Amino acid sequence: AKEQYHEFVIRETTVKRLCKSHNIMTVNGQFPGPTLEINEGDSLIINLINRGRYNMTLHWHGVRQMRTGWSDGPEYVTQCPVRPGQSYRYRFTVAAQEGTLWWHAHSSWLRATVYGALLIRPRDGTSYPFDVQPTRELAPILLGEWWDMNPVDVVRAATRTGAAPNISDALTVNAQPGDLYSCSSHDTALFPVTSGETNLLRFINAALNTELFVSLAGHNMTVVAADASYTRPYTTSLLLLAPGQTTDVLVTFDQPPGRYYLAAHAYASAQGVPFDNTTTTAIFDYGAANNASSTAIAMPTLPAYNDTAAATAFTTSLRGLRKAELPSRVDESLFLTVGVGLFNCTNTTAQQCGGPNGTRFAASINNVSFVLPSSTSILQAHHHGAPGGVFTADFPANPPVQFDYTAQNVSRALWQPVAGTKVYKLKYGSAVQVVLQGTNIFAGENHPIHLHGYDFYILAEGLGNFDAGADTGKFNVEDPPMRNTVGVPVNGWAVIRFVADNPGVWLMHCHLDVHITWGLAMAFLVDDGVGELQSLEAPPPDLPLC
Ligand code: C2O
Repeated sequence: AKEQYHEFVIRETTVKRLCKSHNIMTVNGQFPGPTLEINEGDSLIINLINRGRYNMTLHWHGVRQMRTGWSDGPEYVTQCPVRPGQSYRYRFTVAAQEGTLWWHAHSSWLRATVYGALLIRPRDGTSYPFDVQPTRELAPILLGEWWDMNPVDVVRAATRTGAAPNISDALTVNAQPGDLYSCSSHDTALFPVTSGETNLLRFINAALNTELFVSLAGHNMTVVAADASYTRPYTTSLLLLAPGQTTDVLVTFDQPPGRYYLAAHAYASAQGVPFDNTTTTAIFDYGAANNASSTAIAMPTLPAYNDTAAATAFTTSLRGLRKAELPSRVDESLFLTVGVGLFNCTNTTAQQCGGPNGTRFAASINNVSFVLPSSTSILQAHHHGAPGGVFTADFPANPPVQFDYTAQNVSRALWQPVAGTKVYKLKYGSAVQVVLQGTNIFAGENHPIHLHGYDFYILAEGLGNFDAGADTGKFNVEDPPMRNTVGVPVNGWAVIRFVADNPGVWLMHCHLDVHITWGLAMAFLVDDGVGELQSLEAPPPDLPLC
């Protein structure tokens, strides 16, 4: 195994998008940011040097960070932010994970422009567990979202008013909106391909708030990995990626030479919620030798934005490649409702109550709307044995009331969250099952729930209210897919399992940034059973202070 050192310098860079120039935050002036390429088992040292205008942290999305929780990155959870002018070294090893992960800013909405791919190839001397080895890999495909307004100002305005933030102005492939947007066709992402080859394509959904359907005109895709875990090969013309998720596919370029669009647009099944109904495109080009550039570009057909059947068909087709290593016991069983609600505004000033009917938007897990601390991080407070005033360890394992979670028009009195910084304590080594139940208190929609520090098995998912009696029998305990982000279906549920074998403080949250802003988050505190986090590495000397 090798070790790589990289400097990631945060700085302001000027780019042109949608007919205008903008100053954005970047890593090393690149947008998307640099691609990290490693082999399984390698270690990375990333020196974050903040020459930007904002506090910054970086998160290595999906990296397990075994005992290196100080390098996980969510601000005020595992570290204080790196202030302008300061630096911090992230150090970690990527082991027992292969495929595609990514990295992104984990502070405010800065990940809109501060993100990049992390490619994990098999160790030297080993190969992919595919029937056909790809001839080559194409450049990673990062799906994103572009705002004309500074994304930090977008979220600040929403927080000030209590209203919903602006939706983005474009979806993007490799930071380019593509042919269908104004002033964008010249820079449309282009992937040259060779007739007859089978290539490996890696997709990352780095969009802030949009789950995406993806299709490539004229070509099927065979899914071989998701979230850096191999899957049983599944051939399809349609992919669905929730924000945070990655999918690796094999594509054989066996069609008549020409140009083919890769296209992505929103899957947003929420009723009455504004969605970005635009489509981003990239071009797959078999080459000028065939004079293809004079011919029209083939466009794939994408499902309607609210096609839940198409979404469900994709997600329920994924299986792990290998038999699951799943303990049969469950030591900790949690039932967590995830959803958007509203804060009653009686105690706040009117200009902060721009939500529906004079409320503020809020989101919660089990009716607790998560609040980040500001004086230190949760991990630092715990490590120093002084949670007092920073967090409490009383996160509820069940919602405060039970009712029909998926019904519309449930009395709001039943569902106005309380704000708090609460963690749920897990004993080191315990087998944990979590039922994630989506609610429809206010505009039910899919919630991509992401757990830091772990991969989990997705045993089952379904629509409606989870029914322990009937639904437990549907669990796939043989070959469930392993992921770090699960799209909890709109008005439905998903059941996940993991073993709490990584000591530290681990955020779990909706990967729609608008929902984490509203509090759809909680944290697990995993103790190692010897009283202190003795097996977590010591805090690094350059850990920033708040
Ligand atoms: Cu990719 Cu907490 O995030």
